[in-house]
Amino acid sequence: MTPAARVAAAIEILDRILAGSPAEPALIGWARASRYAGSGDRAAVRDLVFGALRRRDSLAALGGGLSGRALMLGLIRAEGSDPDTVFSGEGHAPLPLSGTERAGGVTLSEAERISDLPDWLWPDWVASLGADALPLAHAMRERAPVWLRVNPRRGGVVEARAALSRDGVETEADDHPNALRVISGERRINGSAAYRDGLVELQDLSPQLACVALPLSKGALVLDYCAGGGGKSLALAAREDVQITAHDADPGRMADLPERARRAGVRVDLARPGQPGSGYDLVVADVPCSGSGTWRRSPDAKWRLDRAGLDALIATQAGILAEVAPVVRPGGHLAYMTCSLLEAENAGQIDRFLSVQPEYTETQRRFWTPINGSDGFFLSLLRRNGSD
Ligand SMILES: C[S@@+](CC[C@H](N)C(=O)[O-])C[C@H]1O[C@@H](n2cnc3c(N)ncnc32)[C@H](O)[C@@H]1O
Repeated sequence: MTPAARVAAAIEILDRILAGSPAEPALIGWARASRYAGSGDRAAVRDLVFGALRRRDSLAALGGGLSGRALMLGLIRAEGSDPDTVFSGEGHAPLPLSGTERAGGVTLSEAERISDLPDWLWPDWVASLGADALPLAHAMRERAPVWLRVNPRRGGVVEARAALSRDGVETEADDHPNALRVISGERRINGSAAYRDGLVELQDLSPQLACVALPLSKGALVLDYCAGGGGKSLALAAREDVQITAHDADPGRMADLPERARRAGVRVDLARPGQPGSGYDLVVADVPCSGSGTWRRSPDAKWRLDRAGLDALIATQAGILAEVAPVVRPGGHLAYMTCSLLEAENAGQIDRFLSVQPEYTETQRRFWTPINGSDGFFLSLLRRNGSD
């Protein structure tokens, strides 16, 4: 595909997303219908679509409207390129620009233009992040780095880097043990021997740091209450010989966990929904959230979130905290986690919990953002009063 044909494909996909489709199905649908597109084309089109979604409103302003065509026009203008070389109508290129498009430009609210965040969210964003609000909004317009976690059950950092390099994935070690930042070849990770053999897992830096911060002793009983794909279970099981039970309200989310655990050389037991057991030394509640800390990776989610959706998430989080509070043994810990940057899902949620659960005391609160970590991530570690 020519560069202009890739832009035409991105326009088509963006139009589907703007009409309400989530980004991934829209990309997959296009790829299936476009057998002529090679892996390089698919990757380039994906980059165009995600790049446009990260800066949707500022590009819409530059391109003169909220459509796939306008977003791509805005992107080309933002890069300082000549749109006529792309919008030529030749071959599979997008049709030439109309007079209106040439003269285009629309008025957006200041928040939308400067932050590329939904208007309704901006006041909450500023209240949550203070002086970091604008730098973090801008950070969300950039591509996120890819991080790997080395699994010490399968080998060390040096071994992992060498194995990845043999398969074309270059990494650099971080100050944080077991964390590797991917420098190049990220699309080769899934096919690499290191990944297949469980020597590395894809996990962002901030959740890795959160898992390292949790109290774990040999033989401890651990419950991962919102286990999903099991990223936290696997990180904790790799760290220490503990007995981990994974639970999720939607057990289908854990379908791949037994195979991932086998690959990683660890054991994770699965609990039935609503039957998590009790008496745990540590309960991890990695609750469903807005994902606002990860919007660099899933930029369409930032435009899909609305006030009602956020309020529903906050209610779910409070419900989960109430559900897990009794299953921690006295003297044990509850680790509340979100990948959100919003105060209402983080400190606000914990302050409310502590006001109704006097048996709990907060012992640690950590907050990572793209400024000091990688994705936005919140951890509150709470101890249930009682004897150890
Ligand atoms: C943020 S995701 C978990 C990600 C996972 N811990 C990981 O590291 O890959 C949140 C999960 O909570 C689950 N969930 C939602 N409501 C729940 C509830 N009331 N009880 C338990 N799990 C719930 C969702 O199905 C989802 O899998």
